[in-house]
Amino acid sequence: MEKVLVTGGCGFIGSHLVDKLIENGYDVIVLDNLDKQVHPDGIPEYINLKARYIFEDIRKKQELRKIIKEVDYIFHFAAKVGVGQSQYQIEEYVDVNIRGTANLLDVLVNTKNKVKKLIIASSMSIYGEGLYKCKKCGDVKPELRNFEEKKIDDWEPKCPFCNNEIVPCPTPETLPLKSNSIYAISKKEQEEMSLLIGKTYKIPVVSLRFFNVYGPRQTLSNPYTGVCAIFLSRIKNNNPPVIFEDGLQTRDFIWIEDVVDACILSMKKEEADYEIFNVGSGKATSILEIANLLIKLFGKDIKPEITYKFRKGDIRHCYADINKIRNKLGFEPKTTLEEGLKKLITWAKEVKAEDKFEKAHRELKKKGLV
Ligand SMILES: NC(=O)c1ccc[n+]([C@@H]2O[C@H](COP(=O)([O-])OP(=O)(O)OC[C@H]3O[C@@H](n4cnc5c(N)ncnc54)[C@H](O)[C@@H]3O)[C@@H](O)[C@H]2O)c1
Ligand SMILES: [Zn+2]
Repeated sequence: MEKVLVTGGCGFIGSHLVDKLIENGYDVIVLDNLDKQVHPDGIPEYINLKARYIFEDIRKKQELRKIIKEVDYIFHFAAKVGVGQSQYQIEEYVDVNIRGTANLLDVLVNTKNKVKKLIIASSMSIYGEGLYKCKKCGDVKPELRNFEEKKIDDWEPKCPFCNNEIVPCPTPETLPLKSNSIYAISKKEQEEMSLLIGKTYKIPVVSLRFFNVYGPRQTLSNPYTGVCAIFLSRIKNNNPPVIFEDGLQTRDFIWIEDVVDACILSMKKEEADYEIFNVGSGKATSILEIANLLIKLFGKDIKPEITYKFRKGDIRHCYADINKIRNKLGFEPKTTLEEGLKKLITWAKEVKAEDKFEKAHRELKKKGLV
């Protein structure tokens, strides 16, 4: 039986992947330090009892050296994942995400092993703004916005060459990167380091640039992560979801099971080796639309609170061009947004969701980030 190591396998994406791997007949080892912010109550009740769990930090070598001798594949998902929080917990984010990956790579190249492939979780955040089209100049990538004025009436970025209107279009993997947070920098470094070491030692590495993943087991009480989870914990507690800007900024939301499919395809298919893939739905959805859909599907009588405020570093639009993963790996997202959100809500109604938005918001405000 082939063995797979999933770092961060107690987390949102990792735990779903663990289930799928076990379902497909793999032996699974999870390495996860049960980060307090993600797991305030300790071991989550959903962990898969058929997997072997090692509650250890990715930055430690001892256990990793032992595990690496046994495994055929590695998914490296362990990370600190709060974009805003990374702007003031700089050392911690760099340490876990960059040094943690460095530690794994170090063990990989310096311990005898039979690892056939390493798959890492990268992120859409490393693009900064996505790709846009200008009528006059063609494909362009605008600079990150930087508003000085208090009252903003036009949120859209402009063409960097002629300053005219531009429209967002699907972002391909080849777009130059522009990190807008320490989190994004850490993900970019992680991706580059892994691909470089993979090529150097002929260990196939695959980098998956996840867009906005949503689904059950997202930590609803962690105010530093995904927008769906943050909105849901607000709605569930009868508070309005708080929207920055005018709500018409867009993102690409992808259902967790589709992401797991992309992970399995990347592991199994040789065509994935040494490649970078966008993992998104390929569709743009505005933040306001997400908030309204969640409220409607939850059956609550609340209105989103639109702040018309700019959050430093936020991009306006980015959604995935998924042609590469489609053509090379045969990937196709199967769940529509409405279907996915319905399932998300069914789950959210049953679990505890402390609304810690205010606390997180106060922290950002104190640091001058909103
Ligand atoms: N959720 C998304 O929308 C999204 C988007 C882009 C990229 N990603 C990436 O996907 C991966 C998984 O994200 P997620 O949403 O499942 O996050 P998550 O926070 O739910 O899971 C991360 C897991 O890593 C563990 N972890 C944290 N620090 C660790 C350390 N020092 N040692 C060992 N384990 C540690 C945590 O305990 C947690 O179980 C991350 O690498 C993240 O950057 C996620
Ligand atoms: Zn132009």
